Amino acid sequence: MDHFNYKDGVLCAEDVPLTRIAAEVGTPVYVYSAATLTRHFNVFQEALEWAPDHLICYAVKANSNIAVLKLLGDLGAGMDVVSIGEYARARTAGVPGERIVFSGVGKTRKEMRLALEGGIRQFNVESEPELLALSEVAASLGVKAPIAIRVNPDVDAKTHEKIATGKSENKFGIPIARAREVYAAAASLPGIEVVGIDMHIGSQLTDLDPYRQAYAKMADLARALRADGHNIRRLDMGGGLGIPYRRDNNAPPLPIEYGQVIREAVGDLDCEIEIEPGRNIAGNAGLLLSEVIYVKRGEGRDFLILDAAMNDLIRPAMYGAHHDIVPVIESAPGTPVSAYDVVGPICESGDTFQKGTQLPPPAPGDLIAFRSAGAYGAVMSSEYNSRPLVPEVLVDGDRFAVIRPRPTLEDMLSREALPDWF
Ligand code: LLP
Repeated sequence: MDHFNYKDGVLCAEDVPLTRIAAEVGTPVYVYSAATLTRHFNVFQEALEWAPDHLICYAVKANSNIAVLKLLGDLGAGMDVVSIGEYARARTAGVPGERIVFSGVGKTRKEMRLALEGGIRQFNVESEPELLALSEVAASLGVKAPIAIRVNPDVDAKTHEKIATGKSENKFGIPIARAREVYAAAASLPGIEVVGIDMHIGSQLTDLDPYRQAYAKMADLARALRADGHNIRRLDMGGGLGIPYRRDNNAPPLPIEYGQVIREAVGDLDCEIEIEPGRNIAGNAGLLLSEVIYVKRGEGRDFLILDAAMNDLIRPAMYGAHHDIVPVIESAPGTPVSAYDVVGPICESGDTFQKGTQLPPPAPGDLIAFRSAGAYGAVMSSEYNSRPLVPEVLVDGDRFAVIRPRPTLEDMLSREALPDWF
């Protein structure tokens, strides 16, 4: 459920009409709903209520705006970060180090050192070379780094191949068959303290079965590691639960059902439970608001040319992803619709958001919104074609704030420098 609804014929974010945001901030612009973010976070809290010790480590990569992190951090969220940049964002948002988990296959020694100095809950280690490097860095600081090892369970997450991570052919984690050996090596290192096990099998999962398979393997491994003498007290179940991108009857499982899958698999192990949801918290809490520039008649098809482009929202071009496209001004019931190819102004045919979208005949200046764009939207934006980064707005009830302003052309150009020999 989200808080983007039509009121008096105008699509609103909570109580703010999107027409007002477009008039004051301009388009394109990302708009997030604080009430929706809060609701999604609380739904996960309820899903893990059975686990007295649990932490929802929001996956910062999904939407890393500091205001979004602060909102979630203030609700009690931990954070899952994958770079020192994300770590710095989380800390700037006021999240204490003991609630921050550091994931990712390529952490540098510098990142490890900064996180250890700044305070960190745990590193999710993905390889033996990383384990050795982390031990060295921690030992040089005179501390032990708390770690979970990310184990690759070799299950098919049944999602888009670019975002599946739990098969043996993927670069992530340590093969489960080798886990005991690697844990033994970890326990012998001077700068390492083993605290748990980590798994993350992919993103936008719409079926709970891959989780069941993976978590059953995790439970077996936890028992085996305990028998080997390791103090396994924390299980990081990863993220990845999918969201409904289409408003039809094929909604993915709910967080409450997901919570039960975790409980059934590992509930008897008396461990602290961590999860790392990103998309499920932020995805449907945001939309991308855009204006129609031209309606162009083509050969056998009409194009709706928007002021938003693939640099602002890359998911359709990158994954063939679907985002519902809706008009901001509701048309009268019975208004005939026509098919449009919805495109951006970038000089590539790949800059196509959707083909054959049924919409009431639009006119230049009309506003449209891409739904479900709160996760992996603004964070994946770029300045391709020298289009300044898209701004972000947070709505809370009847008020809104610009939480990332649109850079001016000067801002964009002033980051570059000419060599002194020019
Ligand atoms: N934990 C780890 C270790 C991850 O790699 C990810 C996502 C998450 C948690 C959060 O997954 P979520 O709950 O958001 O599904 N750019 C792609 C998604 C990439 C996801 C990468 N890892 C997209 O736009 O669909």
